[in-house]
Amino acid sequence: MGDQRAPLYEAVMKYINQSPVRLHVPGHKGGEAFQERQSNQASLYGYSDFERILSLDVTELSGLDDLHEPTEAIREAQRLAADCFGAEETHFLIGGSTVGNIALILSACNPGDLILVQRNVHKSVIHALMLAEARAVFLPPRFDSVTGLPSSPDPAIIEQALHTYPQATAVFLTNPSYYGLGTDLSPIAALCHSLNKLLLVDEAHGAHYGFHQELPASAMQSGADAAVQSTHKMLTAMTMGAMLHVQGERIQRVKLKKILTMLQSSSPSYPILVSLDLARLWIQEHGSGSIHNAMLSLQQWRSDMASLERFELTVDHSSHSFYETKDPFKAAVRDRSGQLSGFQLKSALEELGCYPELADSEHVLLAFSLATSPEDLERLIYAFEQVKMRYPVDEKKELQAPVTNTNIAAYAQEISVPVPFSMRHIHTLVSEDSSYSIPIPLSRAAGHSSAEMVIPYPPGIPLLYPGEVITVEMAAYLQRLADSGASFQGVSDPALHTLQVLRDSQVDLFGKRE
Ligand SMILES: Cc1ncc(COP(=O)(O)O)c(C=O)c1O
Repeated sequence: MGDQRAPLYEAVMKYINQSPVRLHVPGHKGGEAFQERQSNQASLYGYSDFERILSLDVTELSGLDDLHEPTEAIREAQRLAADCFGAEETHFLIGGSTVGNIALILSACNPGDLILVQRNVHKSVIHALMLAEARAVFLPPRFDSVTGLPSSPDPAIIEQALHTYPQATAVFLTNPSYYGLGTDLSPIAALCHSLNKLLLVDEAHGAHYGFHQELPASAMQSGADAAVQSTHKMLTAMTMGAMLHVQGERIQRVKLKKILTMLQSSSPSYPILVSLDLARLWIQEHGSGSIHNAMLSLQQWRSDMASLERFELTVDHSSHSFYETKDPFKAAVRDRSGQLSGFQLKSALEELGCYPELADSEHVLLAFSLATSPEDLERLIYAFEQVKMRYPVDEKKELQAPVTNTNIAAYAQEISVPVPFSMRHIHTLVSEDSSYSIPIPLSRAAGHSSAEMVIPYPPGIPLLYPGEVITVEMAAYLQRLADSGASFQGVSDPALHTLQVLRDSQVDLFGKRE
């Protein structure tokens, strides 16, 4: 089974095992700064654990290589990662999938270039379009008929858009979604390549894909040209640790590398880099067996949940849905009695010590991983039993079918016209100049163009970007989200009583539209 080494981890351990005198940055000198055990920081972090992390926090010393020009341990660690994840080349990222998405768009688009982008993408992709000054043609997502959750666009829509816009440089998709819904990427990759277009995939939630026959294939296995994975989300890297995998000749590798050098810190975090090296080793050594065991435990948990009746794992039951892949490590749970919204169910579980990944108005989203123990799952079942007892429902009341009202109508259902993005969007977002934009009550916002990004967080997928026209359906959906307790990023009024809109929608703030 593969190469058993973790070269970057080994190099760093070799360094710290010498008990070196650290005449280099960072200033904490391997945690020495916190030796004073009575210090507040030491007691906050737990002295010894913090010291261990800080001792790994080194810099580009001899033998420890340089992320931006790797020739030794980092190069070797990245090569092993490429082998393990089925790529030709892998870049370690210390700024999450966020930096990977930005680098991919910047590498695929020169200013003015046109790119096909799934509409329900992470905010980093919209930010990347602004930085690249690219033009985006947005592709509408499909919606699960049972839950109303959005996923990837219909391949027929992608094909239609590729034929309408033959000048497009790439197709950018998110697969899987935060909720673990996805599509088979192989035919889409084949379609893109038949027209000599890049397929770029935000696989932030799928770093574990492809490591077991019952898990969906990864983007690399499906033939994508590049994929970004948050190794910290579903595998074991430290937060912000991510990887960008590439294969084939279409991607401009030299340009991509240069852009990563521009975007990533010149002092990358070794604890994060080492954690990427170890995450790769861990999945390589334990992958299939651990996944198998974890899936058995999750099967048991799912049948325990079914016996509670009150709660429904909606995505599991969406048998008539369009999507072809589901991540067994994600579960969207709703209260079938309709008594607790997703946000209320989340709070109720948190009071019992169980912290879901996120909530929407209907569901809580539970993210399991290979490190979820059977004991964790027992505690979770116990918590759901407790919620059932604490919030009893009238026995005679019928349990309800899911409400498919979520955001289906909110997104445009058609391929968009090309939308030019530019640095001016960024100026608008940060501008306090009231000649640009005015606050308007949400109830009167329909028909205006948004001056801000409206981003329910989590999941961090903008519902409006600056310049986007607010439809009646979108205004109503935002109102429902605000009423049900969602949190928003990017807005000047987090309660969403008002939205900032462009003072004059006719003003050609972002350049001409085609
Ligand atoms: C679909 C998607 N892409 C990208 C990201 C950004 O990932 P990261 O937190 O690793 O920067 C997220 C974060 O939640 C996401 O949900």
